[in-house]
Amino acid sequence: ISLIITNSAPRIAISGVIGNPVGHSLSPMMHNYYGEALKLDYIYVPCNVDDDKVGEAIRGAYALGFEGINVTVPHKQRVMEHLLEIDDAARCIGAVNTLVRMEGGYKGYNTDADGLYRAIMGHGINPEGKDCLMIGAGGAAKAVAYMLMKHGAASVVILNRTMDKAWTLAEEMNRQFGRETIKAMALEDYGKLEKEHYLAFQTTSVGMYPKVGHAPIEDTAFYKKIQTAVDIVYTPAKTRFMELVEEAGGQAVGGLDMLIYQGIIAFELWNPGVIVTEKMVDTVRQMMTERLNNR
Ligand code: ATR
Repeated sequence: ISLIITNSAPRIAISGVIGNPVGHSLSPMMHNYYGEALKLDYIYVPCNVDDDKVGEAIRGAYALGFEGINVTVPHKQRVMEHLLEIDDAARCIGAVNTLVRMEGGYKGYNTDADGLYRAIMGHGINPEGKDCLMIGAGGAAKAVAYMLMKHGAASVVILNRTMDKAWTLAEEMNRQFGRETIKAMALEDYGKLEKEHYLAFQTTSVGMYPKVGHAPIEDTAFYKKIQTAVDIVYTPAKTRFMELVEEAGGQAVGGLDMLIYQGIIAFELWNPGVIVTEKMVDTVRQMMTERLNNR
């Protein structure tokens, strides 16, 4: 537990999130709730940091005694040059979203891939041995691709509007894992997909609030090939992509649990030994849903 005793007086453990903007971040609500529910002397604060101030912010947070820091858009890559160490998964994904304090500075982790894995396993979705497809090849797609490689997907096709980016991501991951699991395909070529019953991941921001009602592929024939799908978008709770999957008879899961579990893994890194219970997860899911519905 990250309660620090100095001269026998308890000190509040501080952590927070840096990003630009961070005003709408749901992380403070999540983390402060866990701290309260677990009766820890713990506080989590959102900090807006300009793009050219990331290094200063990290050094300042260290000086101020921050135990941990989450890093969100657009600083997930930029922050990497200001860290003492970087965990292997974060290096492979090429982005850091969680900093853990150590002697002299911070170590960087990426909890997105593990967060996604815990979220889907919680819905009974196991990628092991599955034929998978991904739509998109941006920052979020990297964590998805890494998770699928780590957990033994049989095959992965990355569909992306810009074919080059899909190809680069596929090549990078295949090289890191030493096997040719991932193939790249242009988004418009979805008709050439060879398999059926895919486990699909929608990793683009298409369909995200406020531009709801859109999906990267609208053709119902495509959705007949999908058995189970995960949209990493969490607002709206049911995206157009999810609707299309369900209309074709598949199971669709939204991105809220990925957001929740990446936060829990960060919280666990900062508070070793602490257990966030399923009941607490349910409460947080409800709180976040209400917040998203009320904005
Ligand atoms: P993030 O870091 O959130 O993943 P990103 O790196 O900007 O964001 O990546 C966005 C992804 O969404 C990309 O794969 C992008 O496709 P391109 O590589 O062709 O740009 C994809 N994307 C964004 N808008 C799209 C649209 N209207 N249709 C299809 N794909 C789209």
